[in-house]
Amino acid sequence: MKKKFLIRSFGCQMNKLDTNLVVNSFIQSGFELTDQPAATDIVLINTCSVRRHAEERVLSLLGHLKHIKKTQPGIIVAVFGCMAQRLKEDLLSHEAVNIVCGPLQIPELVNLVNNDIPKQVAISDNIRHKPLLQDSERLDAFECAYDTAEDNLPAQAYVRVMRGCDNFCSYCVVPYVRGPEASRPPEKIIAQIKKLADAGIKQVTLLGQTVNSYCYNGSSFADLLYEVSKINGIEWIKFVTCYPRNFDEKIFKAMVDLPKICRYLHIPAQSGSDKILKAMNRGYTSAQYLEIIDKAREIVPDIAIAGDFIVGFSGETDEDFRKTVELVEKAQYKNCFIFKYSPRPGTRADDKLADDVPMEVKKQRNIELLAVQEKISAELNKSFIGKTVKVLVEGMSKKGHLDGATEKEYPQLIGRTAGDYIVVFDGPANLAGQFVDINITRASSLTLFGQTN
Ligand code: SAH
Ligand code: SF4
Ligand code: F3S
Repeated sequence: MKKKFLIRSFGCQMNKLDTNLVVNSFIQSGFELTDQPAATDIVLINTCSVRRHAEERVLSLLGHLKHIKKTQPGIIVAVFGCMAQRLKEDLLSHEAVNIVCGPLQIPELVNLVNNDIPKQVAISDNIRHKPLLQDSERLDAFECAYDTAEDNLPAQAYVRVMRGCDNFCSYCVVPYVRGPEASRPPEKIIAQIKKLADAGIKQVTLLGQTVNSYCYNGSSFADLLYEVSKINGIEWIKFVTCYPRNFDEKIFKAMVDLPKICRYLHIPAQSGSDKILKAMNRGYTSAQYLEIIDKAREIVPDIAIAGDFIVGFSGETDEDFRKTVELVEKAQYKNCFIFKYSPRPGTRADDKLADDVPMEVKKQRNIELLAVQEKISAELNKSFIGKTVKVLVEGMSKKGHLDGATEKEYPQLIGRTAGDYIVVFDGPANLAGQFVDINITRASSLTLFGQTN
């Protein structure tokens, strides 16, 4: 009988891609995926360290598993990904944990589970050492072999173009858990996407922590976009995340030249205060940031822009926060992700700066900034009413089930536009993975609603 495994993920798109690779490698090796905790032999947990909350969720799951293992001691629990790399052997001493595996060791995870040794750890001892050539080749081969459509996103796949990060923003744990920045060879990326296209993938999202600074032997990110655009079968190309420094304008030109490149830019600012940006080690001012997005709109007038902000960073005064509000108002984002500063052990901000903004103030600023953005999003979304947009259908909308969709002829479906706007509409479930035109009839600050025409 096949051994069953269950997998849980906490984290970003990079993390979801890793989960997908791990799932496929396990299935290929003869394991069977289950979502029934009571029936599983193996529990795999893909972890994130970016904020304390992400780690707390994993610890609470491990607490739960500790109890389950009292009655089912044979279950193997493997913790992998960023938090595994950060906490290393400490995690191994948790009663529930059998295997700790870093993000650069995931190709070994199947073997670790097969080993039948009670406690095992595979992590990079010094993750800031440039990965050896053999390591990158091994990771590339793993990536190519197991990349497929994302779970719940038919016809869509994530494709990593860069690993790691060298930016060392003072608050951020990523360079310490994902290692140094390394761009993958373009020919490997192209071969991988061709394979995905042959398997029916229509949209690829190119992933990197600073995807716009992709560079391999003189080939830039813009060059890569031109190459990926040539691949038959791929209809939409998205990419995240862009870093607002040394922005190559050729990327905007590629968006205008190449119809497959989605006119969507996720470009986190983090703060509108130059003092805070400096303390964050971001390497740009708010004016320089605005110049980049002005340039983007000049070259690509209908571009949709999204941002990230951290509120309550060390030393952030009311005046600094006002500057963030001003930046959000000027930037006219389609949407923003807003986070309360969470000090991460081992980062420069945690070592050198006090976490001196009280939680209550962080919460208040978070609510206020969200409200400012909500108004902007609501206005932008309203401008879609009466228009027709093309969406790639993802599947059933969660609300569709709650709204008693069964009483209707069709369930509610959810899809996204090239600009990453979320669209909810009624339609047959077999539209998942297809492109459809939707007439927009209604809009809220988060969602566009419409009908197929
Ligand atoms: N590489 C991307 C971001 C990756 S982390 C970039 O630089 O844009 C995703 C987001 O998490 C960041 O944009 C930031 O807004 C947030 N974040 C990172 N570290 C954080 C921390 N310590 N506390 C709160 N939010 C954080
Ligand atoms: Fe973290 Fe900065 Fe790198 Fe983004 S660019 S992953 S915020 S260090
Ligand atoms: Fe992603 Fe979290 Fe790691 S945001 S890169 S999974 S720390």
